[in-house]
Amino acid sequence: MKTAITEMFGIKYPIICGAMMWLCKPTLCAAISNAGGMGNLTAANYETEEGFRNAIRETRKLTDRPFMVGITILPSVRITAGHHQMYLRICAEEKVSGIEVSGDPVNKAVGPEYIDMLKKTGVKLFHKVGSVRHALHAQKAGYDGIYAAGIEEGGHPLDDDVTTMVLTPRIAGERMKQAWDDGDVDVAPMMVGQSIGLIQDVPTCKELLERMVKEAEETLREGKQAVLTSWLRWGICPQI
Ligand SMILES: Cc1cc2nc3c(=O)[nH]c(=O)nc-3n(C[C@H](O)[C@H](O)[C@H](O)COP(=O)(O)O)c2cc1C
Repeated sequence: MKTAITEMFGIKYPIICGAMMWLCKPTLCAAISNAGGMGNLTAANYETEEGFRNAIRETRKLTDRPFMVGITILPSVRITAGHHQMYLRICAEEKVSGIEVSGDPVNKAVGPEYIDMLKKTGVKLFHKVGSVRHALHAQKAGYDGIYAAGIEEGGHPLDDDVTTMVLTPRIAGERMKQAWDDGDVDVAPMMVGQSIGLIQDVPTCKELLERMVKEAEETLREGKQAVLTSWLRWGICPQI
């Protein structure tokens, strides 16, 4: 499988684990990366510089594959602005593969110089967004990509109040229109099913109609059989 994400990170599958407080620690992170996706090491699990750096190094002992670091930038008593700066600096120093930010954008909340610092060290920066306007902001600020995450998830301030299946094609925007025009499905997600990778089966119209009729007949046959069986069980003899 080859996508922009597999190419960017040199991974087998374009499947990236989202940040999870309390859960995304070295063992789970490395297991996902070793399986061909990208694990997540969630920074807020670590309150000290030493603890966070050790967690990155511990993950590296468990996998030589790339993984993401999750940094949530939201007001918190426990994790302060100083922590956000420290997490980003250590990610650059340790040259992690990528960062998933949720909440406030790095350029506004921490400073645009931090995006420059990550770029210089080759760390890819992604933002988890819930709206088209936040995706455009991330693009303008110099992020390398976004995670489209709709109202059903809980890692960012919700904005457009739509689900991921609706949000993803909305973010694809103009590129999606181009994909409709020239039929190049690699340009952008063309419809909700494709945007989440569900449609691998593209039959001809003839095959599709024949399959629909066959499945309908099978369903009716099974239904009729089930009704007859229950009639027999209860000793009912209806007039047919
Ligand atoms: C237990 C748990 C903890 C999470 N913690 C965070 C977090 O600390 N920061 C964050 O940005 N998202 C957090 N999330 C959201 C996930 O990263 C992800 O965006 C969300 O689960 C949607 O993805 P899914 O539909 O594959 O579950 C958490 C999700 C779960 C289930």
